[in-house]
Amino acid sequence: MGYGLLKGKKGIISGALDENSIAWKAALKAKEEGAEIILTNAPIAMRMGEINKLAEMCDAKIVAADATDVADLEKLYREAMDTFGGGVDFVLHSIGMSPNIRKGKEYGDLNYDWYMKSIDVSALSFHKFMAVAEKLDAINEWGSVVGLSYIAAQRTFSFYTDMADAKAVLESIGRSYGYRYGKAKNVRVNTISQSPTKTTAGTGIGGFNAFYEYAEKMSPLGNASAEDCANYIISLFSDYTRMVTMQNLFHDGGYSMTGISAEVLDMITPGE
Ligand SMILES: NC(=O)c1ccc[n+]([C@@H]2O[C@H](COP(=O)([O-])OP(=O)(O)OC[C@H]3O[C@@H](n4cnc5c(N)ncnc54)[C@H](O)[C@@H]3O)[C@@H](O)[C@H]2O)c1
Repeated sequence: MGYGLLKGKKGIISGALDENSIAWKAALKAKEEGAEIILTNAPIAMRMGEINKLAEMCDAKIVAADATDVADLEKLYREAMDTFGGGVDFVLHSIGMSPNIRKGKEYGDLNYDWYMKSIDVSALSFHKFMAVAEKLDAINEWGSVVGLSYIAAQRTFSFYTDMADAKAVLESIGRSYGYRYGKAKNVRVNTISQSPTKTTAGTGIGGFNAFYEYAEKMSPLGNASAEDCANYIISLFSDYTRMVTMQNLFHDGGYSMTGISAEVLDMITPGE
């Protein structure tokens, strides 16, 4: 049962690929909290057809858009404004993809065309989502934009290769656009730095399962689930966080502030 936190609000949710996706859970929560939403994903992701199930559950329209394509994003916002009869109150950017990770390339042996693709899909698209919205005046006063990041933007995790660079750019865009959109229209922009989560994007990363267990043991609260992340996203779309902007917010059960945990020490030197 919801609390009506998003009652009367309208928004765009990208990145729901299947029921494990963080965006999938966020869409269900947004609906539960009283919002009207439009779902979007890359045309290629639509082929799986899973998103149709979500659209039915959320009573939402789907607008296909490649997040790297400005014309597609213009079409997305125009359709949203037509459907809602005005601007949107929130936008979720839940998009990431690295061809280098998919193809198992190490950081010292990156394919640079793929590297550009990783940055374009996973970071520049965040800028495009906001620049297009600003030009079309598609986000309402006191609106909220959220992107999803990972702590590899601050610290090195060898398996995360070029996605670490993409996330650092994503977080920087969050700050820079947060300043600009805040001044222009009181729109706030934040990124959530989420725990490792068992989704298509997450599990595609080499060594994910071992790392997931490690993070679980390092975090006093354990890993934050996709559903927990959805709750946090909703709080950032709600009016209770109106003055939070330009932040990268760790949502990781305490992982980012833990030096080493007793559990991990015990794994290294059992019984000592
Ligand atoms: N899963 C994790 O461990 C984890 C941890 C921290 C942050 N994140 C971030 O969370 C976000 C959501 O990922 P997820 O874990 O829910 O995985 P997911 O695979 O379910 O979602 C990624 C989405 O990106 C979409 N996408 C890829 N290329 C696109 C394009 N060109 N245009 C539009 N959409 C495109 C995919 O279709 C998919 O829906 C990503 O930014 C990811 O990096 C994930």
